[in-house]
Amino acid sequence: MKQAFIHSFLVSIVPLLLGLGFLSSCENDKNKKLRIGFSQCVSNDAWRRTMHEEMYRELSFYPDLSLEIKDAGGNSQIQIQQIREFQKQGVDLLIVSPNESEPISAIVEEIFHSGTPVIIVDRKINSNLYSAYVGGDNYEIGITAGQYINNLLRGKGSILEIWGLRGSSPARDRHRGLLKALEGTEIEIVSQIEGEWEKDTARNGLKAHLLQNEYPEFDLVFGHNDVMTIAANEVCRELGIFDKIFVGVDALPGPFGGIQAIADGVLHATFFYPTGGDKAIEIAHKILSGEDVEKENILQTAAVDLSNIRIMKQQTDRIISQQLNIVRQKEMIDSQLEIYQSQRGLLIVLAITLFVAIVSLAYIFKSLKDKQEINQELRQKNEEVILQQQKAMEYAKKAEEATRYKLEFFTNISHEFRTPLTLIQAPVEDLIQNKEAMAFKNDLLLIRKNTYRLLRLVNQLMDFRKIDNNKMMVKASSQALVPFLEEIMSVFQKTASDNQIHFRLMAENPNIQLWFDPVMMDKVIFNLLSNSFKFTPKKGFIHIHIDEDPLNHEILIRVEDNGPGMMHEDVSHVFDRFYQGNPGNRKQGTGLGLALSKELLELQHASIQVKSEPGEKTVFEIRLKMGNRHFEAGQLLTNSMDNQVLEHDIFFPDQDTLTPKDGKKDASLQHCILLIEDDREIRKYLKSKLEPYYKVIEAEDPDIAFSIATDELPDLITCDLMFQNGNGLDLIKKIKAEPLTEAIPIIVISAKTTPEDQLLGIKTGIDDYITKPFSISFVLERIKTLLANRSQLKKHFLHELPIDTSSSTAHSIDKKFVTVFTLLIEENLHNPHFGVNEICREIGLSRGQLYRKTKSVLGYSVNDYINKVRLKKAKYLLLQENESISDISHKVGFSTSAYFSTVFKNAFGITPSEYREGNLKDKN
Ligand code: FRU
Repeated sequence: MKQAFIHSFLVSIVPLLLGLGFLSSCENDKNKKLRIGFSQCVSNDAWRRTMHEEMYRELSFYPDLSLEIKDAGGNSQIQIQQIREFQKQGVDLLIVSPNESEPISAIVEEIFHSGTPVIIVDRKINSNLYSAYVGGDNYEIGITAGQYINNLLRGKGSILEIWGLRGSSPARDRHRGLLKALEGTEIEIVSQIEGEWEKDTARNGLKAHLLQNEYPEFDLVFGHNDVMTIAANEVCRELGIFDKIFVGVDALPGPFGGIQAIADGVLHATFFYPTGGDKAIEIAHKILSGEDVEKENILQTAAVDLSNIRIMKQQTDRIISQQLNIVRQKEMIDSQLEIYQSQRGLLIVLAITLFVAIVSLAYIFKSLKDKQEINQELRQKNEEVILQQQKAMEYAKKAEEATRYKLEFFTNISHEFRTPLTLIQAPVEDLIQNKEAMAFKNDLLLIRKNTYRLLRLVNQLMDFRKIDNNKMMVKASSQALVPFLEEIMSVFQKTASDNQIHFRLMAENPNIQLWFDPVMMDKVIFNLLSNSFKFTPKKGFIHIHIDEDPLNHEILIRVEDNGPGMMHEDVSHVFDRFYQGNPGNRKQGTGLGLALSKELLELQHASIQVKSEPGEKTVFEIRLKMGNRHFEAGQLLTNSMDNQVLEHDIFFPDQDTLTPKDGKKDASLQHCILLIEDDREIRKYLKSKLEPYYKVIEAEDPDIAFSIATDELPDLITCDLMFQNGNGLDLIKKIKAEPLTEAIPIIVISAKTTPEDQLLGIKTGIDDYITKPFSISFVLERIKTLLANRSQLKKHFLHELPIDTSSSTAHSIDKKFVTVFTLLIEENLHNPHFGVNEICREIGLSRGQLYRKTKSVLGYSVNDYINKVRLKKAKYLLLQENESISDISHKVGFSTSAYFSTVFKNAFGITPSEYREGNLKDKN
């Protein structure tokens, strides 16, 4: 992916870079101009300026050429110096217009020898070691001028000659040509003035000449150039000499040039002498371009006078305007070039910007692509992580479910274990007390011990379940710590003395009061002591120390023994659930007791630690907080040990707890108890324990149990909650919904021990909840209490007859039955035939049901009760005075007043009239 991107990036970018490179290299090539150095002898005259203009004009056709002009100011030495400077600069070509021939020749030869092309213009040197010469033929000009003068003077006359610089070739050649042309004529050069090509030099020289007293007469002035000749004309005019003829050389256009001077009559004639500036540049370009050139480039000349001045002027004017046009166009071209240059610069900037933009875009595109790829990868990874998380969650859920099933399984198994264990425990207890079984007492004690061991394990498993489900509630109360511990210790005393173990409690302060949950703490201490007794050898010691730590506001309970101790590894795991410890240890535990102890202590904001020195001793240290601020309000019990059965009580009961203290004399065989329990063994066991005191009916199936309850209307029902074919709670609800049975007290005896189970039972309307394994004496006690309460209720109803329904002490359900029952009797009181049949029909009960219900609630037969109501009403009416006894007897349902008197006397010992009289007397 990345390689593909780089490839496409290079394919798109490299041509652009190459293009730009080419553009800029062209630019460099163009900028790298060929340099021409021009050594000008003098440049302060019009002719030289014209030469320069022509050169620059020509140069505009060759943008690759550059030109630098150095002006020697008419000084040959300076010119030599300047030529050397050009040499040093390393010009590509040298143009020289020598001031004088002789002094300049050597340096030109030297340059030429060094390989630099040299073009000589206008004036010549004394050597032919140059690349090319450009200039007019000055000898020819001299001849042409001489011939023109000869014609003008008609072969006779005198000439005043104004010389150019004598060392310069044009001056020499023009003079030579003039002499040549004048040969054989009568024209003579009478005076020669040194003008040195300069206007002022010529003027001064001529003026001085003419101001002499005597100077040779002359007809014509021939100046080697126009400027000197025009100056001569001016001098003559100044001096009042007007008859002279002036002939010059150059024929320059322009206001101060020779052509204008002809037109103005200042000069008579002049000879066109081209500067050759343009030609020199053209030749230079050819040389530098490697083209062959003519070495001698002689420029054409022509005479200009009044005969051709018009044409010449027109031509020169046109040339001037063309030159101006050219200059303008050049300027336009230059400005276009400038625009082009700036646009090209802009283009380059744009190209660079575009390039940068493309590169940036490419980079951004690449980054985006990379980001997309990374995002894609991240998305994939994220999806994988989510999938893994989901899987992990599924596994966790499965594991949680598995744990839940395991715990449920444990709990169910525990339930299953409890019943048979209870069934082993109870008869064993009986047998231990049975003198006939004395021979087996040791075996029986062993059975009992192991039964309790198993029961404890089952209880511990169930405690764990409660802790895990946050259903293990703390019920803390203030306890006297030392007696509490001593009581637990007492159950181990026999084992201690049997094994000669020094078993002591050592307390700094024997009166310590401490807040804790006694049930939980009992389990903890019982566990620690069981553990110590398991490992402590004969003649060893087990000490319990109680110390106060006022600084930390804590009480320390230390259980110390000199058992074999634990390895370091075991110490750090001893409180882990199901930790088995060193497999080599024969006395391995279940891994339940210590773990449970720790968790029970933590529930009470207490802690436990263990320190062990193998072969020396082991110390378990419990730290309990003083006061009760660490408990929540709902965890505090003010009534310390009410209704709480401690573990050590269950597992080491008093020898006489199984014998009912009140015996047969307090119980009444008239009371009937229905035992609803589908475990035959438990049912039989309970029956055997209840039979000495009560009439017992058994039911193992909930449906059968219900019909027995409605038929027999027992005085009390004990009921299990878990049946193989039915639910105990449903049965109880059914019993409570039935008017006949709703008032029967129900005691649940169940292996379901959670507070929720108990609460559910209470809500259903049960009177008591006893958990398995149960203490039979406790069951007997509860039955006795409930039945006694019920007798009280019965008495209450009878006492209050006819019923006062506002009584708050009456049992609401029984009260309802009694109210309906009594109301029915009262409504039919006048009817002597009103009896059991009528009531059964009205209430919807069978005779037997009505009989049992009346008997159980009121303690009377139906007829007895009707009679009691009739008599009670009669008593009331007898006190009203205004009715006869006969009327009253009919009103309360007696067919004759005699029968009424007999029944009344039987009941109260006096006749109705005696009753009325007695009461009237009392009133009076
Ligand atoms: C200009 C000039 C011209 C003349 C030429 C000769 O400096 O004097 O007038 O023709 O030089 O070199």
